[in-house]
Amino acid sequence: MSTTDSLLTRAADLVTTWSAQRVVLAHAGAQSHAEGPGGGLAQALDRHGIGALGASLADGERIELTDSDQTVVLTRHGASGALRVSWTEGPTYEQRVVLPAPLHATVSTTPQGSAPAAVATTVGAPVHDEAAALAELARPLVIHRRRLYHSDAVPPEAREGWVPALPIAALGAPSFRTDHNVKAAYVAGAMAGGIASVALVKAMAHAGYLAFFGSGGLAIERVEAALVELSESLGDRSWGSNLLHNPNEPAMEERTVDLLLQHGCKRVSASAFMTLTPAIVRYRAAGLSRGPAGEIVESNHVFAKVSRPEVAARFLAPAPANILEGLVGAGAITADQAQMASEIPLARDVTAEADSGGHTDRRPLSVLIPLLTQLRDDLSREHRYTVPPRIGAAGGLGDPRSIHAAFSMGAAYVLTGSINQSCMEAGTSERVKQMLSEAGMADVATGPAPDMFELGAHVQVLSKGSMYAQRARRLYELYKAYDGVHEIPEKTRERMEKRLFMRTFDEIWTETRAYWAERDPSEIVRAERDPKHHMALLFRWYLGMTSRWARMGEASRVRDYQVWCGPSMGLFNAWAKGTPFAELSARKVADVADALLTGAAFCQREQIARMLGVGRGGRLA
Ligand SMILES: Cc1cc2nc3c(=O)[nH]c(=O)nc-3n(C[C@H](O)[C@H](O)[C@H](O)COP(=O)(O)O)c2cc1C
Repeated sequence: MSTTDSLLTRAADLVTTWSAQRVVLAHAGAQSHAEGPGGGLAQALDRHGIGALGASLADGERIELTDSDQTVVLTRHGASGALRVSWTEGPTYEQRVVLPAPLHATVSTTPQGSAPAAVATTVGAPVHDEAAALAELARPLVIHRRRLYHSDAVPPEAREGWVPALPIAALGAPSFRTDHNVKAAYVAGAMAGGIASVALVKAMAHAGYLAFFGSGGLAIERVEAALVELSESLGDRSWGSNLLHNPNEPAMEERTVDLLLQHGCKRVSASAFMTLTPAIVRYRAAGLSRGPAGEIVESNHVFAKVSRPEVAARFLAPAPANILEGLVGAGAITADQAQMASEIPLARDVTAEADSGGHTDRRPLSVLIPLLTQLRDDLSREHRYTVPPRIGAAGGLGDPRSIHAAFSMGAAYVLTGSINQSCMEAGTSERVKQMLSEAGMADVATGPAPDMFELGAHVQVLSKGSMYAQRARRLYELYKAYDGVHEIPEKTRERMEKRLFMRTFDEIWTETRAYWAERDPSEIVRAERDPKHHMALLFRWYLGMTSRWARMGEASRVRDYQVWCGPSMGLFNAWAKGTPFAELSARKVADVADALLTGAAFCQREQIARMLGVGRGGRLA
């Protein structure tokens, strides 16, 4: 085949693969182009990454892909490439990128117009162990007669397809890695009470991953101490902290934002928000500035944790005008920051949280991701975003296949929670970690949520080895049935004091009173006026202590442990069996992340191989 013919065939393939309207492929003075319906270049780049595009270029080749609103030009020079991306009505980016080994090591050098040399095709031996070859993520494979080969074993004309090199960095949205300066699109989610500890966040950051400190439920002084330690010790590495919406204590939310800004926390996981507050908008807008060309530079990143489209819509839209105006009026942000905030989404990363540990709506991920992706696309069009926000996945992710499935559904990144609680760095007791490591997928139950007890809200908890779900549910039934502890029948009261609380109601009230006197004295005033509220505070003492006993590993209270946990824990344990992660001592958060992503990348390569016919003879089971 002549150089031009070869380029033409490949241009035709590439215009389809990359869903572009036009592809121009050029090498050593020869050039070919192909046209297609287009309309999917941005998504294809998001999904496959620049690395996969680079792998299709031989040294010295240049490819230009054009779609309705975007042009991408990549030229390979050895192991690197010059990349230029430009939008019709937007900026142009130029960057050098590292590229994987080229699939087309050489192009034919047969002079144009001369007859092709009649060479017999010699094909080497196929790979011996297909699964092992697919597990070598950095090495592209080629397909010949439904078998896998290393690329040097099959000449280009005999190749029927290829399985690209797929490093873990290729999973998810490439923009996630660049925006957050991380090695892969994997996040360790916040876990309240410092369970997502400073040590956990540091371990992830040092390994090149993002993690959120679990500030929920901690006294403000402890939150500040953690922020100081993280910002001082991590330098330029990426890390984040949690901002929990707190409708009962808006001042706490404001104070937390003050600390986040003061200590340079650039990434915030916003959770439990049903409506937007000035605090979260202030955090985002205060981090906006203009670059040399007047472009918007975003330095405070909001990750919104959502499980419903109506909440997602608030974060995917720009911050509301009335809140921005209020903040400008109060001198908290400038008029230009308000202007910039009105042009970009409030959150650039929206995490769709399915059935998870802790607070959960228990929605299926397979419903949430497509719904939120569609919503994102609609809102991006409506608000004419230059760069659309990303949708990530959380809830039920505990092994390579579930993570691969989330990426296959289009998740830009994945976020895990439960499985990290059983890791060495988690801020909970060895006893809890041991219990978690023995859990199966069905060893979870829902029980009352301590922070929203009166509303009847639930959290998902570990049920194997603990009676928290049943005991706390019984307290909720009593709360609903009676208007104060004085109404609870004497026998029931006695049983509660002796067996459950192991203290009298009076003793508990003394302790509870002291707690609220420091935190919010209006609670005491209300409780002394309203016996039902008094009862709620007494019961919430128990609910609060159950998670504390668990974190402290209090031996006499194992049956009361409140351990937030989702079914993903059981999935992880099942996968970990027979691997080093079966041992608790091997469960280090970043090693777990590496292993799960490596497995997910393997699944992706396996799927490509299957789609191209490999394994139909039974080799890839
Ligand atoms: C022990 C525990 C505590 C959690 N605390 C918080 C929290 O304070 N804030 C938050 O946004 N999410 C919290 N989560 C949710 C996680 O960040 C994550 O979204 C969730 O665990 C993902 O689902 P999975 O448990 O199936 O991995 C918690 C989860 C667990 C297991």
